[in-house]
Amino acid sequence: MKRLLVATGGGDCPGLNAVIRAIVHRASKEKEWQVLGSIQAFNGVLWEPQEIVELDNKTVAGIHFQGGTILETTNKGGPFAWPVKNHQGIWSTDDRSDEMIRRLRHMNIDAVINIGGDGSQSISQRLYEKGLNIIGVPKTIDNDLSSTDSTFGFQTAVQIATEAVDKLVTTAASHNRVFVLEVMGRDAGWIALHAAIAGGAEVCLIPEIPYDINKVKEVLEKRFHHGRGFAVVVISEGAYPENGKVTGREMGEAGYEHIKLGGVSTQFIKQLKEAGFKPDMRETILGHLQRGGIPIAYDRVLSAQMGVKAMEMAIDGEFGKMVAYRHPELVGVDIKDAITVPNLVKKDSQLIETAEGLGICLGY
Ligand code: F6P
Repeated sequence: MKRLLVATGGGDCPGLNAVIRAIVHRASKEKEWQVLGSIQAFNGVLWEPQEIVELDNKTVAGIHFQGGTILETTNKGGPFAWPVKNHQGIWSTDDRSDEMIRRLRHMNIDAVINIGGDGSQSISQRLYEKGLNIIGVPKTIDNDLSSTDSTFGFQTAVQIATEAVDKLVTTAASHNRVFVLEVMGRDAGWIALHAAIAGGAEVCLIPEIPYDINKVKEVLEKRFHHGRGFAVVVISEGAYPENGKVTGREMGEAGYEHIKLGGVSTQFIKQLKEAGFKPDMRETILGHLQRGGIPIAYDRVLSAQMGVKAMEMAIDGEFGKMVAYRHPELVGVDIKDAITVPNLVKKDSQLIETAEGLGICLGY
C-alpha cells in the first residue's frame, strides 16, 4: 500500500475542501493508495501526539461545497520556522524540517500534496530540495501565484466583493455619499480590479499603481453637483498614495510571515478630507468575508480539476511540481518558478485597458 499525506496551509480559501475531496476520489480509483491528512498544515506531523486523520470517500462526502478546510490551516510557523518561547517568554523560531522529513519516513509516507499559497509553496520547494516527494496545489484568493492562469478561491472572493459593490451603490445613491470599499489581495490588485469592473465602480486603487489623491479628488468632485451625487471607490488593502506607504495594522507575531494589512480605506478618506473634498464619505472593510463561505461553481470545478491532477502527478511521481491551470489544460510546473516572482497586475495589461476604457479612475 502507498501512503499519501495531504496538508492545507496558509490562509483558508473557498475550494480547499473540494480539492481534498477530488484527491481522495481520484486516489480511491487506484487500489494501492491510502490518503491521510495532517491537521493544521504540517503541525499535525510535528505535534506530540501527532494529529493525522485517514481520508476516504466517506470522510469527504459532501464537503465540496463547504467553505474552510476540514484539515484546518494556519499561516503561522511551519517546519522551517516553528515558534518557540524561552523561559523569559520571548518568542523565536526553530528549524524542524529535517525532523519532519524523518517523521514522514517513519510514517511510511510516499508522497505529500501541499495545498497552499506562496508561503506554503516556498515551504514545499524547500522540503523538495531536502528530498521530500512533494507536489503543490496553488490556493489563494489573492491570485498572486505565477505560472498558473488563476488560483481557486479567487473568483469566489471577486463574487463576494462585487456583491458588496452592488449593495453599496444603492445606499451611496440614496445618501449622496462616497463609499469606499476595502478589499483583500495583499500586494496584488486583482480582487479590487475585477470587483470594480464587475460592479461599475468609479474609482479603483491597487497596490501596483500608487495613487495621486488630487487626481482622485478631481474625478470624485465631477460626480457631485450642488452637493448631490454619489460614487463607489474600490481600494485594495495594499494600495498607497504616491510618496506614501502601505497601511499596516501590526507585525512581529512569532512565525507570522507578513505584516497585517487593513485600514487603508480610513486613511484614504482622511487624505481626501485633507485635500478639501467635501461630500459625506463612509468606508466598508470587507475583510475575511471574502474568504469564508461556499465556493462558487467556477472555483469548485477548478478545485476538482486541480485535486484530480495533483493525485495523478503523485501516481506518476512528478515531484517538485505544482499543479497549474493553463487554459484549457491542467499542467505540472516547477514549484520554484511559481514562487520566484509574484503575479501582480501589469499597468500595460488588457484588464487595465478595460478599466480605463470604462472610465474607471485608477488614481492617475
Ligand atoms: O493571502 C490571503 C489573505 O486573505 C490576504 O488577502 C490578507 O491580507 C491576508 O490573507 C489576511 O491574513 P489573516 O487571515 O492572517 O488575517
